Amino acid sequence: MKYVVGIDLGTSGVKTLLVDGEGGIIDSASVSYTPDFLSGGRVEQKPVVWWENTLKCLKALLEKHPEAKGKIEAVATSGQMHSSVFFDKNNEVIRPALLWNDTRTTPQVKEIFDLAGGKEKLLDMTCNLALEGFTLPKILWLKENEPENYAKVNKVVMPKDYINYMLCGEVKTDVSDAAGTLLFDVKKCQWSYELCEKVGVSPEILPEVIPSTGVVGTVKPDLCSEIGLAEGCKVVAGGADNSCAAIGNGVIKEGQGVISIGTSGTVIGYVGEINSEVTGGVHLFNYSAPNSRYAMGCMLCAGEALNWTKRTFFENLSFDDLNVLAEKAPAGSGGLVFLPYLFGERSPHNDPDARGVFFGIMGGCEKGNIIRSVMEGVGYAVRDLYEEVQKFTALDEIFITGGGAKSILWGQICSDIINRPLKVLNVSEGPSYGAALIALVGSGIAADFESAKGGKVKVVRETTPSENAAVYEKLYPVFREIYKANKNNFKLIKKALS
Ligand code: XUL
Repeated sequence: MKYVVGIDLGTSGVKTLLVDGEGGIIDSASVSYTPDFLSGGRVEQKPVVWWENTLKCLKALLEKHPEAKGKIEAVATSGQMHSSVFFDKNNEVIRPALLWNDTRTTPQVKEIFDLAGGKEKLLDMTCNLALEGFTLPKILWLKENEPENYAKVNKVVMPKDYINYMLCGEVKTDVSDAAGTLLFDVKKCQWSYELCEKVGVSPEILPEVIPSTGVVGTVKPDLCSEIGLAEGCKVVAGGADNSCAAIGNGVIKEGQGVISIGTSGTVIGYVGEINSEVTGGVHLFNYSAPNSRYAMGCMLCAGEALNWTKRTFFENLSFDDLNVLAEKAPAGSGGLVFLPYLFGERSPHNDPDARGVFFGIMGGCEKGNIIRSVMEGVGYAVRDLYEEVQKFTALDEIFITGGGAKSILWGQICSDIINRPLKVLNVSEGPSYGAALIALVGSGIAADFESAKGGKVKVVRETTPSENAAVYEKLYPVFREIYKANKNNFKLIKKALS
């Protein structure tokens, strides 16, 4: 039997997933780490921490599975997006990476809009709006704040590209991570030389871009024997975590999409060509499936809204208890509407000042109404993202995943609010499984993503909309209106307290 490993290089840890040549999941190993949270919204990590822990995880996996030693033919990595690794001319890391959740770059974001010639022009060149987390603002930050380091930069890559370099000594990126830099022309699938010129970044510092299933190189012989990989084990490019997660969650062709309710939330839809007007309501990035793109709406607070509710009001209850109470409450929570913007919101509002709201608390409001309204508020926000994604693709098969999807009630609420059936798969490994599928296809063990799964991935639950859909159809515009009516109030509160 041949094997591959999918690596999930996250913000708070790394996971390695052993998968056999027929798409079957064997086992995983993981290690946690914490990035450096510094003052002023700065979040950094030394890339060597990623490498040492990845190595540790690979070795731990092979120690548990001696049967796979010498038989791992390929590895591919799913990586946290946007975070910047700066290489000098000897491919030494110049300084700690600035992570995707680092917010020091607000002045650079403003500058990018100005230098690009405005929002419309930026969308025209890249299909995306500038955000603090993206890579380009970090490059400009380095240029302006650490010119001596900027002068040394030979290449800028993303975290998974650094892991690939450490494995095989080649510096490349893939289309899905290139798209997250904001320097990529997503429609043409190449670096935007026009934007590079406008913002004063030399295209020389950008790496060669290959498909996610492209081969970057082969693992160095000494590492193959140290870890226990097959001699000549291929390093397949892999991709951005959201892209790999969508592959791992079943999105491999036109019409398919996935809703994820984790700490934060996403709605992703497969997009072949971009034929609709690009407004910046969602991100549009190149995808890990061949010649395609994906539309991604990202909400900053999804599962975390319920975690917060539990911590704050119902510490002594379990999540099962919360579900039981919410189930007893009526659809619409008796008129209580919740806005889940505890950390501001990305899609579709791009409003860092937005905040959470309970609207319509009445005397006699029961615990169940509060809990259900939180689930519904996240559901309405899912609908916001879904509507934006639908502008680029007509979704006809939608999967749901993440911690929130474990609650049958929450899945039902989402299904009712968007008025569409939702499917749950028997695989919940998301990004690492997506990376493993990319490794299977990229190494030639499997011909395509569908056959790579070897019939192992199945739908275990399908939720269809209930009669509550009619109630939510009437309340969704109210949810939208509550944000609109309070948009300025959020700013006034910020101003009053600053
Ligand atoms: C996507 C984003 C995050 C990171 C987290 O745009 O910023 O999802 O990829 O890993």
